[in-house]
Amino acid sequence: MIDKIKALLQEVENIKAANAEELEALRIKYLSKKGEISALMNDFRNVAADQKREVGQFLNQLKETTQNKINELKESFDNVQTGNDDIDLTRTAYPVELGTRHLLSIVKKEICDIFGRLGFSIAEGPEIEDDWHVFSSLNFAEDHPARDMQDTFFIQHNPDVLLRTHTSSVQTRVMENQQPPIRIICPGRVYRNEAISYRAHCFFHQVEALYVDKNVSFADLKQVLLFFAKEMFGPDTKIRLRPSYFPFTEPSAEMDISCNLCSGKGCAFCKHTGWVEILGCGMVDPNVLESCGIDSKVYTGYALGMGIERITNLKYQVKDLRMFSENDVRFLKQFESAN
Ligand code: DAH
Repeated sequence: MIDKIKALLQEVENIKAANAEELEALRIKYLSKKGEISALMNDFRNVAADQKREVGQFLNQLKETTQNKINELKESFDNVQTGNDDIDLTRTAYPVELGTRHLLSIVKKEICDIFGRLGFSIAEGPEIEDDWHVFSSLNFAEDHPARDMQDTFFIQHNPDVLLRTHTSSVQTRVMENQQPPIRIICPGRVYRNEAISYRAHCFFHQVEALYVDKNVSFADLKQVLLFFAKEMFGPDTKIRLRPSYFPFTEPSAEMDISCNLCSGKGCAFCKHTGWVEILGCGMVDPNVLESCGIDSKVYTGYALGMGIERITNLKYQVKDLRMFSENDVRFLKQFESAN
């Protein structure tokens, strides 16, 4: 068998191909499943045990040499082709590195998947909005501070064209166009006029959830919140609700989860309280239902909203928000395996 391999090795070293078809024929002859090398590989089974080592080495050498030779010939054809006038000089050099999904996209998908399992479907809306969808329909009083120039980016000094400051605007858009039952989740980018620092940015991302139907209660909301917290942060996660205020929900609450770094024992991250805040929520204010054309005597609903950066920070301990938009490959690459 060794002689046969050596003969083939010599043969392979001298192969020539005039064009790509001939080269392909050679590849089939030697390297395909029914090719000569595969046949030898099959025969290898019958080689006496004391010769296996030596024969194996020759066989591997033959395979490698053939593969290299064929690659070499292939490259020489490719090079001839690149002599064409229409060669693309702007193309990146080989090897082309594949990108990875952005960490925020990974977390966004995780959130949407959890709510997807509960029957929520995704709804999206525009980032350039008007006052009605971002504020007025959501029960913000005329003089509510969130409308202030300090927070909101208005476009060309027109107070009716602005960049949405929260994804709650998508609630209005859906409710205006659809009667209950409504069960949606709205992921998206939002903008606020904040000085950029490690803990604030002029844009960030939110996910909003809305459920409107007959007999929706605060107990339903709490159940969904608990399910979400456990799915996102692990089965031992606890939640607590603190009363709060949002113009568009009544009653309103903020939800904390038991700190996932110290399991609620208290650490620097949770400021030794054992709890970290993750989202706002509440029962949709009847005024909001009515302004969107939904009969608040028949229907009730709950809503909740969270920042994707905040959830990501808790889950992956990214302390500096700016990392998300700097596109530093060394940062982005770290989350390849989370894809
Ligand atoms: N829109 C709120 C914000 O940007 C978040 C929020 C709080 C959304 C409570 C809700 C909610 O749907 O019920 O801070």
